[in-house]
Amino acid sequence: MDKFVIKGGNKLFGEVDISGAKNAAVAILPAALLNHGICTIENIPDVQDINYILDVLGRLGAKVERLSRNSVRIDASGDISTVADFEVLNHLRASYYIVGALLGRFGNAEVTMPGGCNFGERPVDLHMKGFAAMGAEVSISSIFKAKKELPLNGANIYLDTVSVGATINIMIAAVLAEGTTIIENVAKEPHIVDVANFLNAMGADVKGAGTDVIRINGVKELNKNITYTLIPDQIEAGTFMIAAAAAGGNVLIKNIIPKHMEAISAKLEEMNVTVEEHIDSIRIISDGKIGKANLKTLPYPGFTTDMQPIAVALLTVANGTSIVTEGVWENRFQYVDELRRLGAHITVNGRMAVIEGVRNLCGGTVNATDLRAGAAMVVAGLMASGKTTVKNIKYVDRGYEHFEEKLRAIGADIQRDSD
Ligand code: UD1
Repeated sequence: MDKFVIKGGNKLFGEVDISGAKNAAVAILPAALLNHGICTIENIPDVQDINYILDVLGRLGAKVERLSRNSVRIDASGDISTVADFEVLNHLRASYYIVGALLGRFGNAEVTMPGGCNFGERPVDLHMKGFAAMGAEVSISSIFKAKKELPLNGANIYLDTVSVGATINIMIAAVLAEGTTIIENVAKEPHIVDVANFLNAMGADVKGAGTDVIRINGVKELNKNITYTLIPDQIEAGTFMIAAAAAGGNVLIKNIIPKHMEAISAKLEEMNVTVEEHIDSIRIISDGKIGKANLKTLPYPGFTTDMQPIAVALLTVANGTSIVTEGVWENRFQYVDELRRLGAHITVNGRMAVIEGVRNLCGGTVNATDLRAGAAMVVAGLMASGKTTVKNIKYVDRGYEHFEEKLRAIGADIQRDSD
């Protein structure tokens, strides 16, 4: 099992290029199954979750050709199976998007239930509600099944909870439905707009992505050869912003959309970190002295839950006490025990963590308990005195492209090693 070994204390200087958005890619790749034409998709991050999805698309019968490390061609014009019962799907949250795509195009989907990071209960009732409203028979056990003689029917669907996954999945399924589907109280994350733009590039008629209401006018068929470039990864960019703030130094984070970073930029400024916004980059200048701050995670444009563990790692050394409230997931503080091993003072009460800033963290051995918690451990290791070992980094590899190489290039002392 691989681990990172970090010698803390180096300041970070230089430039880092941000990869394409993993959470956009895990939806866009399955959505390519809707198309009779050929999709060339660029700026795909080279991470494990993407390898899993491409593997599944290939096994379903799509022709998947890697054109380079970050681009892929998908041709789903041949025979496609509607049963995806592969073990690899147990590792992947986004497997539910395969249900939306197969149901939308073929009227049948049987897909192994999603796995992914464990932040407490992760229901899919809203996905099912959406598919049922479009006329499908849906059921879930270890397999997520959805079936309807084509076409699906357009429907009005109100999401009781703002859900990224349900918004995207229903949008994908509705593209080829008969009539109009209106989804209300939808999520507005940048990658929802990216998925909608991708669907429209293939010939769909999706309007309103990025607002509270999405309207999909069903079309008969998607049949275009397209080339589509993914947006940059907001969470990877935020991780490097916080890493630079934590370690101190001066780092330019490139190839990003600064508007997507506003909630994170505003919080870092509140913590006395200098954030300079440019057209497609952000410069972070930090002396490593972090001001305390309270924050609550919320759906976009709020402070994203995926940055919560990484922000908590930073606040462990703030000059005072900070309160972080988790507004999306019921159980996303499991990793704080690991930060405590490095000397952090954190108490958790339900969805709230109280972080008393300490002068400095001390190196030690910690576990990556999930993807973003793993990144949080790396940020903590960059700040800690001495050596920090982060174990179980298979989680980090799921979502960060060449994480340690990018960190080393800006001056971090981080090595990959195996047990
Ligand atoms: C996606 C991201 C994940 C991120 C999350 C919130 C991917 C692969 N994962 O997860 O990293 O943390 O968005 O930004 O893109 N809910 C229901 N019923 C449902 C679906 C969700 O009640 O059918 C609830 C969840 O329990 C949670 C909230 O809605 O409390 C948000 O979940 P959702 O936005 O759906 O998360 P995911 O799409 O699974």
